[in-house]
Amino acid sequence: MRRAIYPGSFDPVTNGHLDIIQRGCKLFDEIIVAVLVNPEKTAFFTVAERSEILREVLRTIDPGDCLVTVESFEGLMVQYAAARKAKAIVRGIRAISDYEYELQMALMNRRLQPGLETVFMMPAEEYSYVSSRLVKEVFQLGAPIADLVPPLVEERMRQKRAG
Ligand code: PNS
Repeated sequence: MRRAIYPGSFDPVTNGHLDIIQRGCKLFDEIIVAVLVNPEKTAFFTVAERSEILREVLRTIDPGDCLVTVESFEGLMVQYAAARKAKAIVRGIRAISDYEYELQMALMNRRLQPGLETVFMMPAEEYSYVSSRLVKEVFQLGAPIADLVPPLVEERMRQKRAG
């Protein structure tokens, strides 16, 4: 059983995240999309909202034989991964600028948990500039985000903004 964790903030999930999950499904029997509970980060959506949105939009991808589930976690990711008996961590790398931070994290995680491998995957080129941070920024400044996130995400963002 090849089980991987795909950890992140997912605030909100983007088409780039979904693309990575879809690709990861070719490599793993099971992927747990793990939403970080981070009280320090000011978030647009709560962890419960992010998890619910993720579960909904994951219905729109074709996972093949891979089981994709959504959970949330607190604390050290490697401890969570060990508790869930995962063999690998999946992370998406868009541009070379992602690489430095991702390399640091991967090496630190390896030091903490040598048996856990980090697998870097590249999203489709059309998503190579898409980040949750920029999606939130352009949305809040009134620009369309239709091709960057699933329709449900845009809808929930509008609802949230309307209060
Ligand atoms: O989507 P993000 O915000 O880039 O994801 C970052 C994440 C959740 C993968 C990272 O912050 C993380 O693993 N946090 C949990 C705490 C932890 O293990 N920190 C040590 C990392 S070396």
